[in-house]
Amino acid sequence: MNILAISGSPRPARNTASLMKLVIEAAKTHVSDVDAMWCNLNDMTYSGCQSCLACKEPTAKSCVRKDALAFVLDVMLASQAWVIGTPVYMGNVSGQLKLLLDRMYGFMGPNRENRLPSGKKVVVAITQGADEECHKELPDQIAALLERRGLEARIIRACNMPVAAPVPEFSQSIKEEAAALGRWLASAL
Ligand SMILES: Cc1cc2nc3c(=O)[nH]c(=O)nc-3n(C[C@H](O)[C@H](O)[C@H](O)COP(=O)(O)O)c2cc1C
Repeated sequence: MNILAISGSPRPARNTASLMKLVIEAAKTHVSDVDAMWCNLNDMTYSGCQSCLACKEPTAKSCVRKDALAFVLDVMLASQAWVIGTPVYMGNVSGQLKLLLDRMYGFMGPNRENRLPSGKKVVVAITQGADEECHKELPDQIAALLERRGLEARIIRACNMPVAAPVPEFSQSIKEEAAALGRWLASAL
C-alpha cells in the first residue's frame, strides 16, 4: 500500500519536502506496511494542458496526453491517499504543480462527472517565506479546487520559511497538525 507523494518543489530535501515527510511519517505510524511513492515533478518532462478536449470524450479516463504526467495521473487514479507539496511562488503554487493541476481537468468527464473514485484523501503541504498573513486565501483555493474533483482535501501551511535559510525545526503546532493529518490520511488506506 502506498501514499502518493507529489512534490512541486524543485528542491528535493528542503522546506516543502520536509513538511511533506512530517505528514507521511505520521501516516506511517497508523498503518503497517505502507510506503510513499515519490514523484518530484521537477525531474519530469511534461507539458501543460493543450486544451485539446480529448479528455471530454466519453471513453477517456483522464488526460490523454502521453508524457511523464500520464504515469502520475494513472497513479493518482489508483491511490487512495495523496500528499501534494508546493512552495508558494509569486503568491501561488509552483509552476511545476500548476501544470499538473491543469492536467487534472481530465478527471472531469463530458458531463462534468468526477472520474476519480470517491473516498480519496489528499493533504496539501504548502511552505512560504512570508508570514501567515500573506497568501491566506491560497489554502482554501487549493482545497476547493481538489474538492470539486471529488477528493477530501486538507491543507497544512508552514510560514516564515525563507528560501535562502536552512530548513528550520518545525514549530510544535505544525508538528501536531502534521501528526493529526497523518492520522486522517491513514484512514483512507
Ligand atoms: C521564485 C520564488 C518565488 C517565491 N515567491 C514567494 C511568494 O510569493 N510568497 C512567499 O511567501 N514566499 C515566496 N517564495 C519563498 C518560498 O515559497 C519558500 O521559501 C518555500 O518554503 C521554498 O520551498 P522549498 O524549500 O521546497 O524550495 C518564493 C521563492 C522563490 C524561489
